[in-house]
Amino acid sequence: MTDTKSLVLNYLEDNSGRFSSGEVIAKELKLSRNSVWKAIESLRREGYIINASPRRGYSLSAPADNITISGIAKYLSPDVDSELITIYDELESTNKTARSMASFDAPHGSVIISKTQTGGTGRKKRHFSSPKGGIYMSIILRPEKMNIFDYSLITPFAGVCVCKALESAIGVFPSIKWLNDLYIDDKKICGILSEAGTDFDTGELQYIVIGIGINFNSDINEFPPDLRKTAGSLFEKGAETISKDRLIADILNNILTNDVPDCIVEEYKSRMKMLGSPIRVITTNGNYEAKAIDVNEKGKLIVELPDKTTKILSSEDVSTKSIKP
Ligand code: BTN
Repeated sequence: MTDTKSLVLNYLEDNSGRFSSGEVIAKELKLSRNSVWKAIESLRREGYIINASPRRGYSLSAPADNITISGIAKYLSPDVDSELITIYDELESTNKTARSMASFDAPHGSVIISKTQTGGTGRKKRHFSSPKGGIYMSIILRPEKMNIFDYSLITPFAGVCVCKALESAIGVFPSIKWLNDLYIDDKKICGILSEAGTDFDTGELQYIVIGIGINFNSDINEFPPDLRKTAGSLFEKGAETISKDRLIADILNNILTNDVPDCIVEEYKSRMKMLGSPIRVITTNGNYEAKAIDVNEKGKLIVELPDKTTKILSSEDVSTKSIKP
């Protein structure tokens, strides 16, 4: 980006939500009014939404679709290092890139973000559809930098951190479907996949990658037909109330500046609508009906079978749809 353009962009970002006249911008930045106008036109061509009002001047709409390091850094807590963030327009999978960076010593707190993914992966190596409009990010954690009682609680912790960011930044209250899908109004808006790397010889945990995929202002028609009924998006395009940058920063602040609290399982359970409800457990050896009754201290789901015995699930898929014969 040219110097003039980035000066004008920074000015508009610093004054976002307010109108500034071309004359004031030009004066503040020591530019001609014509170069301010040209920079604004050029920013608009790049996708920035800059409103113009005859007497009041220009105002930058929340740069909802734009993911930038400087935009994220504005909202980051001082303990989170924006220099460890890398943003791509397209990657096969941010988790794949993060795993490879982690095996080459990328430090705790490294973050890989992509605007789309061509081979995003979900649980059980399933494809995770990642069209434009979503936020796809992976965070590298080093166990020695974390204060956690049990690593199996990382995934519930990540889910709670994303929920808290959505609750405070947007005022929506997602429900968690075990293990880590977030739903709003029965539509999936976020999936989380945690992966770990261990030392082959010692079996010691070396790194954890938390991969988070959020449908931010996604067009549901861009999902494969079989997902269109169940996928949701936080916003319709053009109706965003916060930027992607702000949401990303809030999530990073929650994950990277907080210890996993002792009450994490309680916090996780309080966001689960499915407890007490009938579910279907889906396994490679067939499906069965059960009732979701609790989550244990390791984040595993406890279910009750029709004969009233209980079973602990660790990685099975569950469906909360009404049980069909
Ligand atoms: C699931 O729903 O099964 C979990 C989906 C996790 C998707 C995220 S998107 C960012 C990161 N990169 C990936 O390839 N997967 C995770």
